[in-house]
Amino acid sequence: MQFSMQVIKTKKVLTEKLNELGSSLNLGLVPTMGALHQGHASLIKKAVSENDKVVVSIFVNPTQFNNLEDLNKYPKTLDADLLLISEISEDIIVFTPDVSEIYPETVIPKIYDFEGLDKVMEGEFRDDHFNGVGTIVEELLIVVHPTKAYFGEKDFQQLRIIQKLTEIRQIPVEIIGCEIVREDHGLAMSSRNERLSKEIRQKAAFIYETLKTAKNKFGTDNVLNIKDWVVNEFKRTNDFELEYFDITDVETLTPVTDKINNIKYRAFIAVYVENVRLIDNIALN
Ligand code: PAF
Repeated sequence: MQFSMQVIKTKKVLTEKLNELGSSLNLGLVPTMGALHQGHASLIKKAVSENDKVVVSIFVNPTQFNNLEDLNKYPKTLDADLLLISEISEDIIVFTPDVSEIYPETVIPKIYDFEGLDKVMEGEFRDDHFNGVGTIVEELLIVVHPTKAYFGEKDFQQLRIIQKLTEIRQIPVEIIGCEIVREDHGLAMSSRNERLSKEIRQKAAFIYETLKTAKNKFGTDNVLNIKDWVVNEFKRTNDFELEYFDITDVETLTPVTDKINNIKYRAFIAVYVENVRLIDNIALN
């Protein structure tokens, strides 16, 4: 397929291109691992509307995967991704490096101290995942030097960790969190949804329905009762296996058992269905 967009594979060429554009323009960065869907499209559209120039990176980052099987199964759909991007704007720069460009020596992540944000929920179930995310995002922020970088709230814990990364590494960029985009029946958009059967994909609306009911209950009920209710809801289904459901303070992401006034809370969930792991979350107040 032929596109007039610039598709760049090396840091050297990308840096040259960005230098040519000069340092005074507003530059947006949308980091992705490809297999783009409407959730990514909404990030890219927002970036285009808020910046003079946008870089979308497509890189399946090996150091954030916990096992080789998951990495190998990750969909690679570059032509379709380029088409989706070009339909938003042909003026976008696409950066698609090879693994050796990002990890020239060893394919291992840097180790960060995210002050505990990485130890709960996804961190508890996915060793080193956030060190891998931090490694690639730090590299992209240094190479692209964007004014703003865009991340989806579906991965809310990742978003908070990236905010922490820019704070501890003192990287001057505005991190923009973008609202979750959902399929018609409510399932949060994810590249993994493609692996679900049509029937289960419809039924998976159950995950968001559960989150919405938990949000309603949050106004009147206590946290432990809500957690018990969610666990029981999942016990009643055969299709879905609950990995975790937690209510946390949005700043520290520490799971709580009691509510305190003026603190913002969010509910987080991870579920296995047809061997696919899905996550979602909702603001509670
Ligand atoms: O959210 C993702 O797709 C990835 O974790 C990211 C931020 C592109 C880093 O590889």
